[in-house]
Amino acid sequence: MNSPSTELRESFGSRIGVIAAAAGSAIGLGNIWRFPYVTGENGGGAFLLVYLAFVIFIGVPVMLSEFVIGRRSQRNPVGAFKKLAPRTAWPLIGFIGITAAFTILAFYTTVSGWTLEYLYLSFVNGFGTAKKAELSTQFSNFVADGYRPLFWQLVFMLLTAYIVLKGIKNGIEKYTKILMPMLFLIIMLLVIRSVTLPNSYAGLVFLFKPDFSKITADVVIQALGQSFFSLSIGMGTLITYGSYINKKDQLGTTAISVSLADTLIAVLAGVAIFPAVFAFGIAPESGPSLVFITLPMIFSQMTGGQFFEIIFFILLAIAALTSTISVLEVVVAYLAEELKMSRKKATILASVSISILGILCTLSQGPLPELRIAGYSLFDALEKSSANIFLPIGGLFIVLFVGWKMKKEDVFDEITNQNTLKGRFKIIYLLIIRFAAPVAIALVFLNGLGIFGSGVEA
Ligand code: PFF
Repeated sequence: MNSPSTELRESFGSRIGVIAAAAGSAIGLGNIWRFPYVTGENGGGAFLLVYLAFVIFIGVPVMLSEFVIGRRSQRNPVGAFKKLAPRTAWPLIGFIGITAAFTILAFYTTVSGWTLEYLYLSFVNGFGTAKKAELSTQFSNFVADGYRPLFWQLVFMLLTAYIVLKGIKNGIEKYTKILMPMLFLIIMLLVIRSVTLPNSYAGLVFLFKPDFSKITADVVIQALGQSFFSLSIGMGTLITYGSYINKKDQLGTTAISVSLADTLIAVLAGVAIFPAVFAFGIAPESGPSLVFITLPMIFSQMTGGQFFEIIFFILLAIAALTSTISVLEVVVAYLAEELKMSRKKATILASVSISILGILCTLSQGPLPELRIAGYSLFDALEKSSANIFLPIGGLFIVLFVGWKMKKEDVFDEITNQNTLKGRFKIIYLLIIRFAAPVAIALVFLNGLGIFGSGVEA
């Protein structure tokens, strides 16, 4: 019984370990880098409201469905569908997930690398009294540089591979249990600093006061994509983690706790960032460079700026790392179980092949601008398509699978731990995954494609 696949099927050691690992996956650059700029670009409060609705009514049920598939099958995303629906086309969903893991990790490690460069810069000299124009040039020069971003990206990939190599209990669980409380502490410090700045109130109004006229088809798609990306759902990450959850842990409570933690950190990141942005009279919709240009400028003008700058980039790096390990684990679990590789071989193969795509992604921002898809740089194309297309499609099929293909009794068995729990919400859950979630995801898509008259451009 010690083939690579049985060796691999470890499990998390404790309930806290499960939450730390899954929340670690969910809480990432999506919360601290992406959420603030996507919210800024889409009107603030109104976007937040639509986002919250998606988290509650679609995100939590999709997350629970991934846990159900994972724990029931005890397999990676491809193996899971093979086991639960043998001789069907369902394993294709698992393959789409593996592909999504490649594309997400490619651009994600680019940005993770940027956080290390900025952490380094804030240690060596802070951003001094630099003006926005200088910081902007500094950022674009760095991103366009051939080597520095690649160096940091590879360092980040090595860190990720190191933890994944150590396995579930002694790698993923051990590190997320230390890193997640640190992350929480740092974000609280930043929130306190931000809301105590003069004129910070305008930032809170921007984030929390909904202006319904801002809700368009595009805003709705962006909110759906952001909720999937942020919760780490739609590509099998949580199928993989679910397969390591003990039989006695409660899947429903875990899905709710992880979604709550993820949403809380996204909102706190907004509270840490927007009041500071408004306090310094800057426009909130500055896109992906928000945390790399706007924030350093704010730090450079703030009392104690260098300290906050350092802890902010530590925060980003930690958040990114606990997410990259979860994505790499998807590919590693697949290679180890389906292709019978050792964990070591699987980790090396996955990290090297993902790094190749990652390197292209980084270069597409600078020395190789001709690497473009549909008018976007490779980086932008992967970033936009993963969140707004691949993850929602994956999520759609995941809920359809659990709602319509799996036996109802098996699903209930899994969420009630073999009828030892009441499972009070199981009927509501079933109704959502059978009807509400698939219809909502499909409508958001059709609406975005302009079927109802208000098209959007990607
Ligand atoms: N949830 C992560 C974040 O918010 O940064 C990103 C992510 C991880 C997306 C894992 C998808 C995934 F499967």
